[in-house]
Amino acid sequence: MVTIIAGTNRPHSNTLKVAKYYQNELAKKGLQTTLFDLQDLPPNFVAEDLYGKKSEAFEKIQQLFTQTSKFLFVIPEYNGSYPGVLKTLIDACAFPESFYDKKACLVGVSSGKYGNIRGIEHFNGVCAYLHLNVMPLRLHISYIKNELNENGELYLEDTLKFTDQQMRKFIAY
Ligand SMILES: Cc1cc2nc3c(=O)[nH]c(=O)nc-3n(C[C@H](O)[C@H](O)[C@H](O)COP(=O)(O)O)c2cc1C
Repeated sequence: MVTIIAGTNRPHSNTLKVAKYYQNELAKKGLQTTLFDLQDLPPNFVAEDLYGKKSEAFEKIQQLFTQTSKFLFVIPEYNGSYPGVLKTLIDACAFPESFYDKKACLVGVSSGKYGNIRGIEHFNGVCAYLHLNVMPLRLHISYIKNELNENGELYLEDTLKFTDQQMRKFIAY
């Protein structure tokens, strides 16, 4: 199973738009994926699902991750790094069955100039610790508000070229 993770729970996030774009384009290329949006975390997630406890709602998310062999993370830049809620999710997931010896592909998103280069680097360090093997081609989409059309899709020529290349490599990875 292949799962795309939209790495924030912010409502109306650009991250979710990019994640949906990847899901649709991967489907056109023949790869079916499941999209997990961090807005779908249980409301009492921090109180109920950390440090060994697991609610019924989180157990379903855990099952999804356990069954996933390849992850594609779309991760926004928050205060020069990746969102804390994403790290909290990683901390809530069972080890080693969630991520160990599996594969991941990383896409950074920001409204500023750097496309979450630092946050992707930070997240890459966590992946290395978890033995989650990150595909070498990581993308950084900066100035995201200029990158999305009225349908919430990427449309700039250069971005389409690089995202297409990354998706092809991800399918083969
Ligand atoms: C808490 C928070 C911190 C942010 N920090 C940064 C930042 O450090 N650099 C940056 O370029 N954009 C920053 N942004 C803007 C996001 O990159 C921007 O909202 C972009 O659309 C991706 O986030 P989104 O998926 O929540 O929309 C921040 C946004 C939030 C909500």
